[in-house]
Amino acid sequence: MNACLLLAAAAVVAFATPAWPQQPIVVKFSHVVAVDTPKGKGAERFKQLAEERTKGRVKVEVYPNSTLFKDGEEISALQLGSVQILAPSLAKFGPLGAREFEVFDLPYMFRDYGELHKATEGPVGKALFQKLESKGIVGLAYWDNGFKVMTANRPVRVPDDYRALKMRIQSSKVLADQMKALGAVPQVMAFSEVYQAMQTGVVDGSENTPSNIFTQKHHEVQKYLALTDHGYIGYAVIANKKFWDGLPADIRTTLEGAMRDATAYANEIAKKENDDALEGIRKSGKTQILKPTPEENAQMRKALIPVHKEDEPRIGKEVIEQVYQAVGFKP
Ligand code: LMR
Repeated sequence: MNACLLLAAAAVVAFATPAWPQQPIVVKFSHVVAVDTPKGKGAERFKQLAEERTKGRVKVEVYPNSTLFKDGEEISALQLGSVQILAPSLAKFGPLGAREFEVFDLPYMFRDYGELHKATEGPVGKALFQKLESKGIVGLAYWDNGFKVMTANRPVRVPDDYRALKMRIQSSKVLADQMKALGAVPQVMAFSEVYQAMQTGVVDGSENTPSNIFTQKHHEVQKYLALTDHGYIGYAVIANKKFWDGLPADIRTTLEGAMRDATAYANEIAKKENDDALEGIRKSGKTQILKPTPEENAQMRKALIPVHKEDEPRIGKEVIEQVYQAVGFKP
């Protein structure tokens, strides 16, 4: 009798408890920069908020510094479902066939973050995300990095100084045309390979934000850094559409909220991260910082603004004009 009761009780317990604990949904978030950057910190914030708010039903694995996928691999990995979230720079969507994103690479288009947000947070930003849907990608947010400076092993102040320099660029045709307009030789290269290319002389220089330069130690292998602020680097945070749409509705809503708050955080810290990085570069004493005069700036602008017209057929007149209008840019 006692044995029967025990068996019955065991059966009740067995049926009341699921055979296995529920497995969390794993979200792999891969990116190419250091943890200590606006994007790196934004990704960590998203992980923290997503895991807390879903009470462990979602586990976000962040892979920084190209440790999972590097440039040139990551977008196809996302489309294949090997990774669920990425945040490539807006300059890296051309190879996917979304050339309109290169509007953000046009030199001197944005004077500050405020102007930039008028484009990303308005109809232009939405329309660009819609272009990704047919490619199996959903756009979740725009994250800031900052304004670009030039680095090289010779002083670079005016267009003539760039003549024949091999300058590393991201995979954007607009950036290639920008370097050509300065008389330089553009070299497309994955971000993870830049330090070594600078160290071994495969490239003479590059353009990037202070936070990327500092955290990758580019300043240790470049003699000069010119505060040109001639362009912008920011990101589209994107997800595999099938994965995102297939999430349970309550989880998706929670992750959308976590992404909204991580975006606010990433965009709030971006400027300070870059200011601090520039200060770090200055303090290191390893590279000489050049502050262009108004005349030098005018020469750079004169050489680079024609790239807007030159790349209009590629990017599309309509999207360029929409951005001009949003930010009040007059070529
Ligand atoms: C670069 O390749 O220089 C940048 O896009 C890296 C990044 O993600 O900020």
